[in-house]
Amino acid sequence: RPTRFTYKFVLLGESAVGKSSIVTRFARNEFNQYNESTIGAAFVTKDVALDEMSTATLRIWDTAGQERYKSLAPMYYRNAEGAVVVYDITQSETFAKAKAWVSELRRQNESRTVIALVGNKVDLADKRTVTKEEGAAYAAEAGALFFETSAQNGQSVQTLFEELARKAPRP
Ligand code: GTP
Ligand code: MG
Repeated sequence: RPTRFTYKFVLLGESAVGKSSIVTRFARNEFNQYNESTIGAAFVTKDVALDEMSTATLRIWDTAGQERYKSLAPMYYRNAEGAVVVYDITQSETFAKAKAWVSELRRQNESRTVIALVGNKVDLADKRTVTKEEGAAYAAEAGALFFETSAQNGQSVQTLFEELARKAPRP
């Protein structure tokens, strides 16, 4: 019979990599070119189908990437079943920051947390500075799922949340 799970998901990553844009694309299928930087954190819920019989309700915390909010992050990633760690494929320093987030999650022993490493803004391919191979290699090394997305055109956004939900620990 039909089963419903509830999961806590968190988005982490440098400011302006597109965390809020990814969530808005996923939850409302919209994109805003002039999206405002998040203050503190934002919260969204959205259902995804896991298979014919089961659904997951995702409770998603979209954190603020600006440095001044960094100390709040543990509150949002604590006990999360899924973490989406985002970088911008056109900004190499955001990839370094994403690696630091993955290390922090592993160091805090959030061992239940399934991590998805996400290179966003693939629609800006001509400005790319982080190769797909670099992203995939680091994800493999860290035991994370890997996706390249575009919040602008929607590429792989739905898939990212569906696959992360399917890999998340069942209660
Ligand atoms: P903070 O809230 O400050 O941590 O930033 P954020 O990671 O939530 O970034 P946000 O979603 O606000 O996006 C920052 C800017 O990048 C906005 O101008 C977006 O329109 C733009 N943006 C986000 N995703 C994409 C994308 O996939 N492609 C392109 N071309 N622009 C994007
Ligand atoms: Mg934001």
